[in-house]
Amino acid sequence: MCSGTNELSSNGEALSKLPHPHPPWVVTTPFALPGEKIRVKIVRSGRMISYSDLLEVIQPAATRDNSRVQCKYFGKCAGCQYQMLDYSKQLEFKQRVVEKAYRYYSDLPGESIPSPLPTIGSPLQYGYRTKITPHFDAPPKGKLKEDWKLYIGFDTKGRRQVLDIEECPIATQVLNDALGPIRAEVQEKLSTYKRGATLLMRDSLQVVDSSREDHVCIRDHKAIVRERVGSKVFEFPANSFFQNNNSVLVPLTDYVRQAATVIPSGGRRPTHLVDTYSGCGLFALSLVEAFDHVAGIEISEESIRYATHNVQLNGISPDKCEFRAGQAEKIFDVVGDFPPSETVIVIDPPRKGCDDAFISQLVRFGAATVVYVSCNVHTQARDVGKLVRAGYALESIRGFDLFPQTAHVESVAVLRKSS
Ligand SMILES: C[S@@+](CC[C@H](N)C(=O)[O-])C[C@H]1O[C@@H](n2cnc3c(N)ncnc32)[C@H](O)[C@@H]1O
Repeated sequence: MCSGTNELSSNGEALSKLPHPHPPWVVTTPFALPGEKIRVKIVRSGRMISYSDLLEVIQPAATRDNSRVQCKYFGKCAGCQYQMLDYSKQLEFKQRVVEKAYRYYSDLPGESIPSPLPTIGSPLQYGYRTKITPHFDAPPKGKLKEDWKLYIGFDTKGRRQVLDIEECPIATQVLNDALGPIRAEVQEKLSTYKRGATLLMRDSLQVVDSSREDHVCIRDHKAIVRERVGSKVFEFPANSFFQNNNSVLVPLTDYVRQAATVIPSGGRRPTHLVDTYSGCGLFALSLVEAFDHVAGIEISEESIRYATHNVQLNGISPDKCEFRAGQAEKIFDVVGDFPPSETVIVIDPPRKGCDDAFISQLVRFGAATVVYVSCNVHTQARDVGKLVRAGYALESIRGFDLFPQTAHVESVAVLRKSS
């Protein structure tokens, strides 16, 4: 069927509304853009929605420039959605995702929601991804290894099938260099895998001597990865959380620091920082010099061991910056001596957002400033709605592009306690 596309969804797929006199119905199509006339094949349908494959772009949008595409798998791989777009256009689409998320998910009146600020771009738009996880299936029982074609790579868009990948242009050079040798090694050991596997590949710094560090690919889940962000060094186990685009972490942490150190009108200089969902301490350590006391909390005991290790590694006094393992809301049991009117709370939860127990204790504590960083703007909008209804004003919202060429957007919301 042919269709005219109207809009992009938050996962980067074009939405086409069927015109009158059809009943309300939407067709989603990956790799198509708003304003295009396309030919599609419907692959499945649900209530008021059909999912389709793109067969042909009949009339391209002015924004489409296929000469920009840098990956030979683009259009088949489920990883990237936007390689045919100019980068400034990608940032505009992400700004719109933030705007719509707050409009539809915050449950706030329009006048409480500021217009999202322009999305901050990533300094690297290719070659930025410091972690990839290619996977493969092993031959089923009874099938000879010699008869089995090894597909090793990422998901195929819209199929339950591994797409065989020799390179990934959004990943860093050291990860791309390692893909060939890893493929040969898996092929060699194929009979030892019962069901296939997902491989972890992480770009890490390796100290060569006191004046030199090289990039290496780490594959052992328990090995220690080392990254630099500005003046700080972070070490953490390869299987634990760390942001996957190192190039954008200085702009991101600078932005959070700037928002966190503003003296709110009629308020006091912020002296205390609480980093919740802290991982191995990215925000706490990046902002530590701007505060007198810093506390962090994180559920993973291993990440907390490394947050504490990173305090020492960066020559910070353990009396100034302390971490503990636990549910985020437990931090309020230990920061009783932090003055709320001089305290900033940074929140950076997983995709599901914050639990109600955390939100209610955060509101009871009443910190002057909350900076909420999120990889899921929809759950962020929901949580921010709760904070605004409990007495915070939403000062700004802004996307950060941690994953260029994809539809993913990180979002930072700044809230100040209303006086
Ligand atoms: C998006 S990551 C952010 C980590 C860190 N802020 C960073 O940027 O590197 C979310 C972190 O929240 C932790 N986490 C998940 N649920 C939690 C909870 N209920 N309480 C505290 N931490 C939690 C995860 O282990 C993960 O490290």
